[in-house]
Amino acid sequence: MKISIINGPNLNLLGKREPNIYGSVTFEEYLKSLKKEFSNIEFDYFQSNIEGEIIDQLQKVGFSSDSVLLNAAAYTHTSVAIGDAIKAIDTPVIEIHISNTFSREDFRHQSFITPVAKGLIIGFGIDSYRLGILSLINQVKTK
Ligand code: DQA
Repeated sequence: MKISIINGPNLNLLGKREPNIYGSVTFEEYLKSLKKEFSNIEFDYFQSNIEGEIIDQLQKVGFSSDSVLLNAAAYTHTSVAIGDAIKAIDTPVIEIHISNTFSREDFRHQSFITPVAKGLIIGFGIDSYRLGILSLINQVKTK
């Protein structure tokens, strides 16, 4: 199974950025532990602070990966273009959030990703990504 992880703006600062909300682990450290735990899965990882680069990456992996885990960060709440890119590709996208955006400011309650995503995992800290992977493994097993 090939899983593509795409992180949006400011998620390159995980570990340093508002650790009370996003935790103190860097994504690189966390990815290492995911690769160890799921050694039979092929992962690719991409992070960008630029909307168009996230769209380019969705188009790049969106016809070959089995699944995309996308944390579009603040673009979740603003980007019609990322929503359109998800509609345009074949690969199903799981929307991921570290924090529970519904318990935060009102502007974080809107998502342009949720209506076009296969599912949404939100609020479990950085482990939201791992829960997304487990859901994919479970689907393969129960098929
Ligand atoms: C986030 C939630 C967004 O509202 C925020 O802009 C982020 C991170 C999360 O993972 O909790 O940058 O996507």
